[in-house]
Amino acid sequence: MADKQPHLNGAYYGPAIPPAEQPRYRPHRGRSCCCCLFGILWKILVALIVLVGLAILIFWLVVQPRYFKFHVTKADLTQFDYYSNNNTLHYNMVLNFTARNPNKKLSIYYDKVEALAFYEDVRFANYDVITHMNSFRQYKKSSSPMSAVFTGQQVLMLNNEQVSELNQDKNAGVYDIYVKLYFRIRFRLGDVISNDYKPKVKCHLKVPFSKNGTFTLFPTTKCDVDF
Ligand SMILES: *[C@@H]1O[C@H](CO)[C@@H](O)[C@H](O)[C@H]1NC(C)=O
Ligand SMILES: *[C@@H]1O[C@H](CO)[C@@H](O)[C@H](O)[C@H]1NC(C)=O
Ligand SMILES: *[C@@H]1O[C@H](CO)[C@@H](O)[C@H](O)[C@H]1NC(C)=O
Repeated sequence: MADKQPHLNGAYYGPAIPPAEQPRYRPHRGRSCCCCLFGILWKILVALIVLVGLAILIFWLVVQPRYFKFHVTKADLTQFDYYSNNNTLHYNMVLNFTARNPNKKLSIYYDKVEALAFYEDVRFANYDVITHMNSFRQYKKSSSPMSAVFTGQQVLMLNNEQVSELNQDKNAGVYDIYVKLYFRIRFRLGDVISNDYKPKVKCHLKVPFSKNGTFTLFPTTKCDVDF
């Protein structure tokens, strides 16, 4: 009895015991506060993600951004001669393109376009289609012409297979020429202009040889646009 009394006393007249119990309450209080803080942050985060997602969705539905479309409308090939004695290709090819902006709200700045021409995976020429000299803004729902002139001579090391392929094309009068274009463009929505985009355009062409440089039948050819 004498032993228990101090305990009872301690329990009743609290001041001595609470200091021992307080540490038990503190972590509880801290954890639940942490939890509710995290809970609030989590809810804010989820709400933000949903809002941003909605904003992007609405932007997409209203603006409907699309890439430009690119076609080769005309190809004039008047020289394509490979001389094995000096491994030189003499070539003369003019290509006409159209770039179409299908967007209802966006216009496109064509800042730079470079075209590379390949035969049998070997690059034989390049041409600056658009430079800062002739860069332009293309308004919504419109088409613009561009052209590339590949002319000159180039030393190429074609192997026997490639030379025989070239002779076949020469007999058929149609050359398989691959043209790759490197673009640098920006989009504009109202007064807001985007960063640079660098799409690549790939055109697999069957170019008929035209000795006269006059009218030749070339079917308009669609190119692949890769962003
Ligand atoms: C290569 O050889 C051909 C024929 O022999 C010639 O017509 C042409 O001019 C030569 N090209 C160069 C770059 O020397
Ligand atoms: C093709 O491009 C050339 C060179 O820029 C141009 O002179 C010619 O008018 C174009 N032809 C067509 C049909 O657009
Ligand atoms: C070149 O053009 C002339 C007339 O413009 C035509 O008579 C001749 O057949 C053409 N030659 C070739 C190889 O297309």
